Amino acid sequence: MDALVQLENVTKQYENGAAPAVANVSLAIAAGEAVSIMGPSGSGKSTLLNMIAGMDRPTRGAVRVGDERVDMLSETGVARFRRRQVGMIFQFFNLLDDMTVMDNILLPAQLAGARAVAGGPGQSSRAAARERAERLVETLRIGHRRDAYPARLSGGERQRVAIARALVNKPAVLLADEPTGAVDTATGEEIGELLLSLNRSGQTLILVTHNADLAARYSRRVISIADGRIASDTAVRL
Ligand SMILES: Nc1ncnc2c1ncn2[C@@H]1O[C@H](COP(=O)(O)OP(=O)(O)OP(=O)(O)O)[C@@H](O)[C@H]1O
Ligand SMILES: [Mg+2]
Repeated sequence: MDALVQLENVTKQYENGAAPAVANVSLAIAAGEAVSIMGPSGSGKSTLLNMIAGMDRPTRGAVRVGDERVDMLSETGVARFRRRQVGMIFQFFNLLDDMTVMDNILLPAQLAGARAVAGGPGQSSRAAARERAERLVETLRIGHRRDAYPARLSGGERQRVAIARALVNKPAVLLADEPTGAVDTATGEEIGELLLSLNRSGQTLILVTHNADLAARYSRRVISIADGRIASDTAVRL
C-alpha cells in the first residue's frame, strides 16, 4: 500500500502521565481511505489524531503525511503543514463568533495566502479560494447562511461551516474528532453522510468517534484502540 499517512512505532508520553497516552502504534492509511478510530474515553484517540495533524509531537517514533516527516518539522514548518495538508473539524466546531460564515470559511485560505506573500500570493490564489468557498457552501447547503454569524446557526449548520473551512485549502487529509458529538442523532447522520460523500469524491478521511454505528456506516475501516494501543483494525463489510 502506498501510504498517505504513516505512523511508525509512535509513542506519546505526557509528562505527568503514568502510562503513555499512545504506546508504540504503527499504522498506514492510503489516499482515499475513510477510517474510523474508536475506543473508550482516555484511550488516546485525540492524541493520535493530534500527532497526525502536527498539533502534538510524539515522544518516540515517526509520523509521515505525504512526503513530510510531521514530527520533525520546525514550528514554521508545522504551521505551513497544517495550513496546506490537513483540515480538522472538532466536536464543538471552533468557529470564530465575530466573523461571518464566509469569513470563517475563508480564514485558512487567507492565512495561507498571507504566508505566501514572499512569493506573491496574487489575486489569482485569493480569487481561487473564494471560488472554492462558494462551491463548498453550495455543496454543504449553507450558501443562504453565508453572511450569518455562527451564534445564529443550528449545530448542524455550524458543523457544515467547520467542514467547509477545513476543506478550503484542499487538504490531503480531513481529520474529524467527534464531529457528531455535540449534535442530535439526525444531524449526526447528516454529517456522517456528508463526510462519506466527500470521501466518495476522493477525500481521505480519518474520523474519531465513540459511536460504533457511525463508524460502521460512515467509514470503510475501523481501528479500535485501548490504552493507547491498537486492539483491532478491520475492514467494514458493505
Ligand atoms: N495535554 C495533556 N497532558 C497530559 N495528559 C494528557 C493530555 N492530553 C491527554 N492526556 C491524557 O492522555 C490520555 C489519552 O487522552 P486522549 O485525549 O487522547 O483520549 P481520547 O481517547 O481522545 O478520550 P475522549 O474519548 O474522552 O476524547 C488520557 O489519559 C489523558 O488524560
Ligand atoms: Mg478525544
